[in-house]
Amino acid sequence: MSQLSQRHLLGIKDITKKDIELIFETADNFKEVINRPIKKVPSLRDVTIANLFFENSTRTRLSFELAQKRLSADIVNFSASTSSVKKGETLLDTVNNILAMKVDMIVMRHASPGAPHYLAKHIKANIVNAGDGTHEHPTQALLDAYSIREKLGSVEGKKVAIIGDILHSRVALSNIFALQKLGAKVMVCGPPTLLPKHIQQLGVQVELNVEKALHWCDVANVLRIQLERQQIKYFPSLREYSLYYGINKKMLDALKKPIIVMHPGPINRGVELSSDAADSAHSIILDQVENGVAVRMAVMYLLAGKVN
Ligand code: CP
Repeated sequence: MSQLSQRHLLGIKDITKKDIELIFETADNFKEVINRPIKKVPSLRDVTIANLFFENSTRTRLSFELAQKRLSADIVNFSASTSSVKKGETLLDTVNNILAMKVDMIVMRHASPGAPHYLAKHIKANIVNAGDGTHEHPTQALLDAYSIREKLGSVEGKKVAIIGDILHSRVALSNIFALQKLGAKVMVCGPPTLLPKHIQQLGVQVELNVEKALHWCDVANVLRIQLERQQIKYFPSLREYSLYYGINKKMLDALKKPIIVMHPGPINRGVELSSDAADSAHSIILDQVENGVAVRMAVMYLLAGKVN
C-alpha cells in the first residue's frame, strides 16, 4: 500500500521525490478516467471538501472543483468577497465554522504566505495549498512537472528555464523545488529587479538574457508579470519588458531545436508571450490545464487516504 509522507499538501518543499512519483502514477490512472465517456469514479463518495478562495482564481478553482466532482466528493465553495470575512471574521473562525459542518478536506488559496501552514497547526482536516501569496503553488508545480514528463518521457536531466517575474511568483518557487527533486537542471531568467537577491542559493542558474536562456533549455516555463503584487516599478514599461523579455514564435523557430513552451496562466498576451508563441506547436499550455485535473484528483485521493 503506497501513501504520501504528509497528510497535507502545503508546499513542494515538504514532500519527497517518492511522493511526487506516487502522485504522478496515480494521476496517470485518473487521466485515463477523465478521457472516458463516463468521467466519474466513486473514490471520494464519502468525503466532503471545502474550496476556500480568499484570492481570485480561474484555472485552479475550476480544476479543483472538476477534480472533486470527477471523484464524487461532496463540495462547498467559499469566496472571501461574498462572505462574513468582509464583516471582520478571522481566518481561523471562518475555517472552524466550516469544519463544524463536518468538512474533511480544505483547498485554500490565500494572499498571505503561510496561511495554509497556520491552519494546518490548528485544524484536523487535510489541507491543500492552492497558492499562498508569493510563497508556493504546489499543485501548479506538480501539473507542470507532470506535463514535462508526459511530453519528454521524464523530467530527470532536462533543462528547464523559468522566465519572467520570479520575484513575485509562487509558481517559480514550487517549480524549482519540484524540478530539482525530480533531477532536472533549473535556470531562472528575468530582469535583475525581478529576480530574488539570493536565488542562486536554491541551486539554480541565473541568466539575464532571454535568448541565451532559450538556447540553453529544453523547456521554457514563462511566467506572468504580476502587476497586482508590484507596489513599486520594477521596469520602465510593459512595452520595454516585452521588448527585452517577451518571447515570440520567430525567436522559438530560430532556435532550430525542439523546445517546449509552458505558462501557468493567466497569460498577458503580447507582454511575456506573443499570441503566435502561446498558440504555436511549441506550446503545451492547454495540456497543462488538462493535466491539472488529473493531478489534483491524485493529490486529493491520496490525501484522503483512500489507497487500496
Ligand atoms: N495558474 C493559476 O494559478 O491560475 P489561476 O490564478 O487562474 O488559478
